Amino acid sequence: MSVHYYDTADLVATVAARQTVAVLEHAIKTHGRAIWVLAGGSSPMLAYREMVDHYADKLDWSKVFVLIGDERFVPLNDSASNWGSVMQVFHESTKLSAVTKIEPKIFETVALTATDYEEKIKSLSIKHFDSVWLGVGEDGHTLSLFPDNSAFTQSTDRWVVPVYDSPKPPSERISLSLTALKQARNVVIFATGSAKREALYRAHEDGILPIAVVARTAEENGANVQWLYDAEAWSDSIPRP
Ligand code: 6PG
Repeated sequence: MSVHYYDTADLVATVAARQTVAVLEHAIKTHGRAIWVLAGGSSPMLAYREMVDHYADKLDWSKVFVLIGDERFVPLNDSASNWGSVMQVFHESTKLSAVTKIEPKIFETVALTATDYEEKIKSLSIKHFDSVWLGVGEDGHTLSLFPDNSAFTQSTDRWVVPVYDSPKPPSERISLSLTALKQARNVVIFATGSAKREALYRAHEDGILPIAVVARTAEENGANVQWLYDAEAWSDSIPRP
């Protein structure tokens, strides 16, 4: 696990994009395809744009399989949809829009939506996730794994779990589980923005917030985990993990 400091969120985005393209390129050379778990929320948006602006010609993007780490229980064309928001950026580039999409399908219930997405992911015989991007909430959540929420606290063999009573609206979501994150090979954590400073400090201090547990679980199962901080989120008292 490594902690990196950059003056701005723009620099975090530049580094995240550059490093991820290298990981995806290596995976394609080694396995013929790369699996990339996309993050929702606003923090990674600059990095997605960096991909579109500077790396569209770098890879055969059709060999990059993308799935979303968590999705709100809304139609994909709803402005709140994580998948919809990221695909909107990708579709600004004909080349990036050629990624192989593992698209979630929204059913009548969140439970069915989670089951279907898990089946879709597993049907591709995915053995690991080459790159996983994670945002961090102000309460230390990541994906849609929230403190004290059963989707985080209850152990499960499932890779995709339904989430109820999310404190961050909408209340229903689907999320990769802690178990799924054991398949990660490279994790990039977008530790940006002053609103996250307290949660990020606590994550390193007591290690019990979801972002801390997810990062530790991934690392214990062989992942290279990088926390990319900007100045707003950094606090000098952050212990080096
Ligand atoms: C979601 C996101 C969530 C996000 C954090 C940070 O569905 O809300 O996936 O986990 O990553 O809440 O969000 P921001 O990057 O917008 O601060």
